Amino acid sequence: MNFASILEAIADEVRPSLGDGKVADYIPALARVPASQFGIAVRTTDGREVCAGDASTPFSIQSISKVFTLSLAMQQLGDGLWDRIGREPSGDPFNSLVQLEHEQGKPRNPFINAGAIVVADRLVSQFANPKEAVRQFVSSLCEEEVGFDEEVARSEAATGFRNIALANFIKSFGKLDNPVADVLDLYFHQCALSLSCVQLARACAYLCHDGRNPLCDQPVLTDRQARRVNALMLTCGTYDAAGEFAFRIGLPSKSGVGGGIIAVLPDRLTVCVWSPALGPSGNSVAGMRALELFVEKTKLSVF
Ligand code: DON
Repeated sequence: MNFASILEAIADEVRPSLGDGKVADYIPALARVPASQFGIAVRTTDGREVCAGDASTPFSIQSISKVFTLSLAMQQLGDGLWDRIGREPSGDPFNSLVQLEHEQGKPRNPFINAGAIVVADRLVSQFANPKEAVRQFVSSLCEEEVGFDEEVARSEAATGFRNIALANFIKSFGKLDNPVADVLDLYFHQCALSLSCVQLARACAYLCHDGRNPLCDQPVLTDRQARRVNALMLTCGTYDAAGEFAFRIGLPSKSGVGGGIIAVLPDRLTVCVWSPALGPSGNSVAGMRALELFVEKTKLSVF
């Protein structure tokens, strides 16, 4: 398959509509990112990396980080992680509070903000320096040093009132072991990791290699755990648009309000798209369109 020409064709097709949607502005530092950018990168299981557009420009990975923190927590804690987090799609926006009260502070899944905050709490318990542990984990996945955009982390800490509410609410049910401030410091920093499409397509390659990092041939997760992360991405990775994603694209995917989306075709490839302007569910409009075109042009999907 000639991925290079397919990715160039996709970049050309989405170009006229770049900027449709709205750049996330509830985190002020993200509001300044120009909307007209677009990148796409593919990494195949035989090690080929192909990209087009702004695929080497680092961006704020935001909720894509939840895949990496979940994987690190699964690696460290095994099935014990699931005592405090469910595995069902929420059907609600990523930052919703409504289900938490009915479900006594147990978030529906690890990809809504409430669930990622619980995962962050477990990592704070696990590591002396949890921010550095997460940064090193993601760096090891793409075999390049990656870093936090401290301005984005500070900006979210100053305005993240919903996450502050969510964390305090979960804490009130006795379901966070650590101080809210420590948990949110990790959460805001993981969201502020900066990676490019090329780095992200590489960093999630373990999800299409039965849990092994193909760059160093070391296990990240067991193959069963990797399958489960993919299942959660398919059912919960794009929040209340997960059904639409499965319908239009049919790949386990995880989005972030920085405009990035990673997607996995097990045993074949990973793909990362990025364009900052978002639709109503917080998913990149051009990114979603690009993934749809990718599946149409390559006929590659899990269905
Ligand atoms: O917690 C937040 O609201 C952001 N740091 C991350 C949200 C996010 O990326 C949702 N994804 N589409």
